Amino acid sequence: MIVRFNGKAPRLAPTAFVHPLAYVCGEVTLADHVTVMPFASIRGEFAAITIGPYSNVQDNASVHADPDEPIVIGARVAIGHNAVFHGRRCGDHTLIGMGAVVVQGCEVGSWCLVGAGAVLPQGMQVPDRSLVLGVPASVRPLTEAQAARLEHNGQRYVALGAQYRAGAAWVLE
Ligand SMILES: CC(C)(COP(=O)(O)OP(=O)(O)OC[C@H]1O[C@@H](n2cnc3c(N)ncnc32)[C@H](O)[C@@H]1OP(=O)(O)O)[C@@H](O)C(=O)NCCC(=O)NCCS
Repeated sequence: MIVRFNGKAPRLAPTAFVHPLAYVCGEVTLADHVTVMPFASIRGEFAAITIGPYSNVQDNASVHADPDEPIVIGARVAIGHNAVFHGRRCGDHTLIGMGAVVVQGCEVGSWCLVGAGAVLPQGMQVPDRSLVLGVPASVRPLTEAQAARLEHNGQRYVALGAQYRAGAAWVLE
């Protein structure tokens, strides 16, 4: 569902895919090949949210901007199932793991791996190439092997979004 709010309508690149059961509202910009899955919610009623090319927002994930706190999410970012992203910035190639919570004011660098269930407390600054785990989250450098996993981050979702756009999904009942 793509919703205009107070005259501000989401702007979607032609190759972006938003599942009909997702909610995208207000000042939201989705770049090419962004995929938004069912029950994800991206709400830019208060401030702008920009999501870069080849990124995805998976089922039940929420991205919400507070007043005067625009959110910029980079390219090839994956926001996993049930994650909450309320931070300011997320760099390219970063994976926000399933159920992770990124609280207001956080800035997550590029090529970071935020583990499933991690909670990043308010204002946390995560340098590029970090592994972020636990509650509250602790940060350590990413190994080469972990960084290699992020090389094709989100690629499957780019293909999946293209299949959805091409009509691969068919409602049976
Ligand atoms: C963090 C993660 C990438 C594992 O990385 P890894 O390099 O394979 O690490 P390992 O499984 O070898 O575990 C290394 C250590 O981290 C711990 N660990 C792993 N995942 C963790 C998590 N989510 N939270 C806290 N600790 C975690 C392990 O217990 C282990 O601890 P130890 O060194 O004390 O024994 C993985 O557990 C994870 O959270 N992936 C997120 C996937 C996801 O959500 N994808 C989006 C949807 S598709």
